[in-house]
Amino acid sequence: MILKLSSGQELPVEMHKARMVQKIELIPAEQRLKAIQEAGYNTFQLKTKDIFLDMLTDSGVNAMSDNQFAAFIKTDDAYAGSMTFYEFADAVKDILGYEHVMNVHQGRAAEHLLSKVFGKPGGVIITNYHFTTTKAHIEVTAGSVCLELYADEALKTKSTHPFKGNMDIQKLKDAIRKYGKEKVGYVRMEATTNLLGGQPFSMENLKEVRKVCDESGLLLILDGSLISENAYFIWKREKGYERKTVAEIIKEMCSLADIFYLSGRKNTCVRGGFIATNRKELFGQIEPWLPVYEGFFTYGGMSMREIGPMAVGLREMVDPSVAGCAIEQIKYFVEKLDGMGIPVVTPPGGLACHVDAKKFLPHVPKEQYIAGALTAALHIASGVRAMERGTISMDRDKDGNDVYADLELTRIALPRRVYSLSHIEYIIDRLKWLYQNRELIKGLKFVSEPPVLRFFLGKLDVLDNWSRKLCDAFKKDFGETW
Ligand code: F0G
Repeated sequence: MILKLSSGQELPVEMHKARMVQKIELIPAEQRLKAIQEAGYNTFQLKTKDIFLDMLTDSGVNAMSDNQFAAFIKTDDAYAGSMTFYEFADAVKDILGYEHVMNVHQGRAAEHLLSKVFGKPGGVIITNYHFTTTKAHIEVTAGSVCLELYADEALKTKSTHPFKGNMDIQKLKDAIRKYGKEKVGYVRMEATTNLLGGQPFSMENLKEVRKVCDESGLLLILDGSLISENAYFIWKREKGYERKTVAEIIKEMCSLADIFYLSGRKNTCVRGGFIATNRKELFGQIEPWLPVYEGFFTYGGMSMREIGPMAVGLREMVDPSVAGCAIEQIKYFVEKLDGMGIPVVTPPGGLACHVDAKKFLPHVPKEQYIAGALTAALHIASGVRAMERGTISMDRDKDGNDVYADLELTRIALPRRVYSLSHIEYIIDRLKWLYQNRELIKGLKFVSEPPVLRFFLGKLDVLDNWSRKLCDAFKKDFGETW
């Protein structure tokens, strides 16, 4: 919630209090260097004992509420027919308006089933922008090409456009004409578009996409992993929605999609996912595959103990102080950095503060994994674990060439209700120091990499031994420890 201070400044105030905490440690810079070296300069490979602030992701690491913990204890454990599942299905109906729902073990499991059932081998799947796991399933499971039809503004990291996650409607119409509707598996809209820097789409845009899908008889699938943030942005930024509630906006968004899925690891603050729809015949096409890949219908690969809290999480995510808790922290974070001239994605989005690594490190060529280098440097300078969202997060093409990402971002994610403003202030200060010393940061090269989703397991090394030099410069300014 935003409270106005007497100075006129707006302060994002947390509308919750911590009643259980976890101790964290900040290890000295020399040990941080050793840890990132051993991790192959890949922050996925770090151990949490070597991390001070874990801002890798907002996925599966959010703080559950007291009511969610209560639901965890109260779970009706059963392989089949658990009443907890039916309570969850009621929450889906009440909050999202869908009659039919099946759980899956996480978001990518939904992507697997949807690509398997609705993908057209040799065809295309259209989206506003890809997410890593989505693209992998479109290519590997559906055997299709992932077509991204974002508006040109989407790739401008410095922008004031309120809805950079919009799909370009003209491009959508042209693509359907070019490929033919029988070649299009489905159209997918991703709420608070992750890899564009957590940028939302507008309700107006979603309605236009719906109209085009209706005209061509195409399925519209909504990835709602970050739906409450997208709804919060619509509430804050879109004309005509300022008097609606976040709950009403979420319902309206859902009413426009044929099929909805999400990773529950984000907005519902648990670990799991689901697919929901009002179209029984579509549900019936997916349902037979659920026990093959996930589990029986009333648990779908999730622990029953997470399904109860997921129902509570759904009901809680429509509260603006929950829907906006990370957004308002991110806004504070981004605006401060932007004010200092440090290149970040604007306008501030959901999910994370995204640093524009291409602008931060203009001297590092794109062949040397710019965002990967900045993400590793941040760990050395601060003990903060961020995530590379750039070329390392793209897999090679079939000839083995790198596919250069549109954006090179270091993503500093804000798990919900976990970190405070003092943590953010600390990162801002260390980013400022890194920016002043950016010439010390050079590129990376791959040492080993798997063929698909290489960012998870790939190992890299630094060029010109820059990490040693950066660590030494840090110690000179801050001493051995801080
Ligand atoms: N869709 C979106 C928009 C996502 O952000 C994610 C995951 C998924 C699908 C896949 O869900 O992880 O439950 O299988 N995003 C995480 C992240 C991994 O860190 O942004 P999952």
